[in-house]
Amino acid sequence: MSDKTNANVTNASPRKILITSALPYANGPIHLGHLVEYIQTDIWARFQKMRGHQCTYVCADDAHGTPIMLRAQAEGITPEELIAKSSQDHQADFAGFNIAFDHYHSTNSPENEAFACYIYNQLKEKGHISRKTIKQFYDPEKEMFLPDRFIKGTCPKCKAEDQYGDNCEVCGATYTPTELIDPKSVVSGATPIEKETDHLFFELAHFEEMLKNWTHQGHLQSQIANKLDEWFEAGLRGWDISRDAPYFGFQIPGETDKYFYVWLDAPVGYMASFKAYCDKSGLNFDEYWQAGSEAELYHFIGKDIIYFHALFWPAMLAGAGFRTPDAIYAHGFLTVDGQKMSKSRGTFIMAKTYLDHLNPEYLRYYFAAKLSSRIDDIDLNLEDFAQRVNSDLVGKVVNIASRCAGFVVKKFDGQLSSNWSDEAQSLYESFANESEMIAQLYEQRDYGQAMREIMALADRANEYIAETAPWVLAKQEGKEAELHESVSLGINLFRVLMTYLAPVIPETAEKAKAFLNIDDWQWNDVATPLKQHSINKFNALLTRLEMDQIDKMLEDSKKTLTAQAPAASESKQPAADLDPLAEEISIDDFAKIDLRVAKILNAEAVPEANKLLKLTLDIGFEQRQVFAGIKSAYEPEQLIGKMTVMVANLKPRKMRFGMSEGMVLAAGPGGSDLFVLSPDEGAQPGMRVK
Ligand code: 2FM
Ligand code: ZN
Repeated sequence: MSDKTNANVTNASPRKILITSALPYANGPIHLGHLVEYIQTDIWARFQKMRGHQCTYVCADDAHGTPIMLRAQAEGITPEELIAKSSQDHQADFAGFNIAFDHYHSTNSPENEAFACYIYNQLKEKGHISRKTIKQFYDPEKEMFLPDRFIKGTCPKCKAEDQYGDNCEVCGATYTPTELIDPKSVVSGATPIEKETDHLFFELAHFEEMLKNWTHQGHLQSQIANKLDEWFEAGLRGWDISRDAPYFGFQIPGETDKYFYVWLDAPVGYMASFKAYCDKSGLNFDEYWQAGSEAELYHFIGKDIIYFHALFWPAMLAGAGFRTPDAIYAHGFLTVDGQKMSKSRGTFIMAKTYLDHLNPEYLRYYFAAKLSSRIDDIDLNLEDFAQRVNSDLVGKVVNIASRCAGFVVKKFDGQLSSNWSDEAQSLYESFANESEMIAQLYEQRDYGQAMREIMALADRANEYIAETAPWVLAKQEGKEAELHESVSLGINLFRVLMTYLAPVIPETAEKAKAFLNIDDWQWNDVATPLKQHSINKFNALLTRLEMDQIDKMLEDSKKTLTAQAPAASESKQPAADLDPLAEEISIDDFAKIDLRVAKILNAEAVPEANKLLKLTLDIGFEQRQVFAGIKSAYEPEQLIGKMTVMVANLKPRKMRFGMSEGMVLAAGPGGSDLFVLSPDEGAQPGMRVK
């Protein structure tokens, strides 16, 4: 990661950090899938603040685009009314989950219009905007051009009916809407006609060099940087940034009836929200956004919107003379009980439905326990969820305070002891000494590991209490000093644990503040134990999570979902190729794949391609030429003579360097960690792999 991230956080002067989460669409409610990101980001922002940094966390509603315009029409209200209501609902949901934005804005704001126009004008002035005539589907009844997602028809490949204009959900084929059989407008049901129109394009290829460097300078997770290399190989195309009227968005300066595509002004919303915050807080906008800024900028996003954030956005910023982000942190999707969230099972859970039944702190802790710095999907296993929350938070952490507090209050008038034995002192120090290690785990977004370390400390604290057994000491004569030390240390260890957990369970930490009689949670305060300090009566900080609460939530969720539709988007980057687990296929689908043992007869580098090796493969009955993206893992001569496995019936693909007639199977995250699969000895070229 960037040098700034590695700055010694305790001793260096406070860092200036701006953090964002992706802006939710204004036409749909927040659900648990969204919350992975907001919880992940909020934990990071709270952590940075506890470390004493000048950290700002902003977000906004993503308020433009065709789906929002049409939803408002369907509801008989103006788009402005729709987005105002949505903003209120979203903010209530976020507040319910203790997501503490410093500012929440809207992309439909004057600040955003000013920045979007400024950036566009800069790009235009520098020759990065071009104009092309394109053909697009047009709804003759509704008199509007149709985004791909608003056209449905029969898949040209598998003939499945009722498929979207850009890809088939049955066979996974991607195509253009013009290839659909019997296309219909989703808006009016009319048969769309093809119509020519002028569109404006942002010439991404002008930024190829800059982006190739930027994507390999530690701003991206390695899985993503590798993925981007494939996109570079495929070539960067101009990005269509205009839409014709009617459209809900900003008019493009100097054009008639043309609007910025929603994805043009969406990330600009990060700047707009921060600007609005600067105006109320007195922070200096330029200090954070000017080229060469020393301030740090991080965007937390889902893996489905990487293309927009890791290519378009840095290019737009650089082209318009602004700084680029220090890092884009992508996370995976949420599954529930190992499967995609499902409306019929009730696992497509809205934020509001969750909050009607369960404490937000539970989910925050569970997500933290599951999150890492990688983009793997995370699973909310509902039984494990209840078990983990009860055993860790209630059983281990809160329990320490509840076991010790009564004695301190009743026997010692609320006063913690001041004279500690060496043993007590050293146990305390062993807890406090973990502070930097745990901080680094938070810093690197390895929350799961951080939670494991914290729970290991909680186990040690509980062992100490079990060993010293204050309830036994309390009944014995002349043991007051020992009892006082045991429970005072117990409370102090609890305070250290709560300090470490405060970014994750802030509501519980807030309640614990009152009990511990402290003003604030600061990371470095663990260095000084509470001695000769009075605490208050203990009230339950967190109750157990019962399975029947979860069942009720699922029931409720089934009911509410029939009434609500999640937000539709105009377009997204397919994320399937970043998924750790691809979509399920049937045995018949599998049988279609002809996997063959192949002998590598020859391997040579393709000089014009960074990642490709040209392989000549023997599959018994014929030879094949395959281009494989494994150059960074193998010297070509290492491969010659090796056996591997290939997909032999993959449709041949014409590449810049020649035909690729199949695919070699390899595993690994990419780069030098890529391993070509080899069958056991005895396998012969041409054998079918089953
Ligand atoms: O995918 C989405 O939900 C978009 N609304 C995210 C936008 S993030 C940023 F670019 F505004
Ligand atoms: Zn299909």
